[in-house]
Amino acid sequence: MKISVIGTGYLGATHAACLAELGHEVIGLDTDPLKIASLAAGELPFFEPGLAELLNRHVASGRLRFTTSYEEVGAWADVHFLGVGTPQRQGEGSADTAFVEAAVTSLAETITRDALIVGKSTVPVGTAQRLRELLVRHEDPSVRIGLAWNPEFLREGFAVQDTLRPDRIIVGVDDAAHAETVKAVYAAADELGIPFIVTDFETAELVKMAANAFLATKISFINAFSEITEAVGGDIRTLAEGLGLDERIGPKFLRAGLGFGGGCLPKDIRALQARASELGHERSMRFLSEVEGINLRRRERAVFLATSMLGELRGKRIAALGAAFKPDSDDVRDSPALDVAVRLFDAGADVAVYDPKANANASQRFPRLGYADSLADAVMGADLILVLTEWDEFKSLSPDMLGALTPARKIVDARNVLVAHQWTAAGWDFAALGRKHAPVFDHVPVDA
Ligand code: UDX
Repeated sequence: MKISVIGTGYLGATHAACLAELGHEVIGLDTDPLKIASLAAGELPFFEPGLAELLNRHVASGRLRFTTSYEEVGAWADVHFLGVGTPQRQGEGSADTAFVEAAVTSLAETITRDALIVGKSTVPVGTAQRLRELLVRHEDPSVRIGLAWNPEFLREGFAVQDTLRPDRIIVGVDDAAHAETVKAVYAAADELGIPFIVTDFETAELVKMAANAFLATKISFINAFSEITEAVGGDIRTLAEGLGLDERIGPKFLRAGLGFGGGCLPKDIRALQARASELGHERSMRFLSEVEGINLRRRERAVFLATSMLGELRGKRIAALGAAFKPDSDDVRDSPALDVAVRLFDAGADVAVYDPKANANASQRFPRLGYADSLADAVMGADLILVLTEWDEFKSLSPDMLGALTPARKIVDARNVLVAHQWTAAGWDFAALGRKHAPVFDHVPVDA
């Protein structure tokens, strides 16, 4: 099929490359000419495992092209996917759908053949219906433009895998024929037996919001118990393992630590609360403000641990290991790791941040922090080390090797990836979120 993908950010660039991999002819469109030039040259403006290879393969094969021209895609494609951003509005919790509206308007003005617009962006419930009405207003009787909503559930770090083999495909439509068109796009997924659920616009929009709200709640649930294990002296990792072995609960998203960040979960739970409020159902989603409160308190706790270990932060050298909001990503949007580094800096510490991939993005956002090119440079002579993102490079840290570079031997494991007794046995002052600092018994749970 001939497919355009409007918006070539994280979602759009991944989707375009994966559609080409599925055998379609694809044009990615963005209004940013620099982004388009770099993608057309096979250069990915962000880090995502496996995506650069797909991009290069399909730019080379000619199956994937890029443009800034709506006229070009409007005259060419059968299906137009929308992958533009819906950022949080300045000073408000609600999502700004202006980019989605602008994309649909531009398509409506330039489409010259029957086509289907398929929204993938995460939007407040009711947006698709509004866009439908916008399309009707622009309708040219000689072309039929349909609309479908097909939310995207991809995770950063697994974007290619999640796009090619999603857990499920949800499609919201107001015409069954449109669901068939979307099904044809994902024919390969159908062959893999991936569930394909057809519903109305509102349910499709809400499934996405509910999924993110649930994931955020699961993380804050375990982090709330961290506050209790900290108070009474239990071990949150073992608690999570014991909980997750109940098949009804499951082990995933129970990794206690510094909490959630990134471009989706924090923004989406705020947008959901704002939308519920607009609908007169503020109470239904009020628990999400507690979910966010728990999440932010983990950062305060990490700063508190650092302060208690050092007595005074002013003038102390701190190595902040990790800046990305999660490993295998260079994304620092709403990153708990970077937020903790900034809080320590603001309290007077001399902070050296080291992240295997995210230093450049972090230093662009917070140029006032110090940045180290290697782990060794960051920890050399540090009064305290904090593990803030669970990169493999940090999970495998050895207390003896690190001790040679850091005579102060003080470490905070804010992601619960280190084995406490190994560090305390090597003479380190060790602290973690949600578990004892010098446990008699340190059960290491299986990683979920
Ligand atoms: C999320 C959703 O998972 C995805 O379906 C949606 O499309 C976009 O938002 P992503 O932002 O890539 O994906 O990250 P995810 O893997 O969900 O992690 C989100 C945050 O939660 C990260 O900061 C991560 O460190 C944190 N997290 C995750 C935990 O603190 N504990 C966990 O057990 C799992």
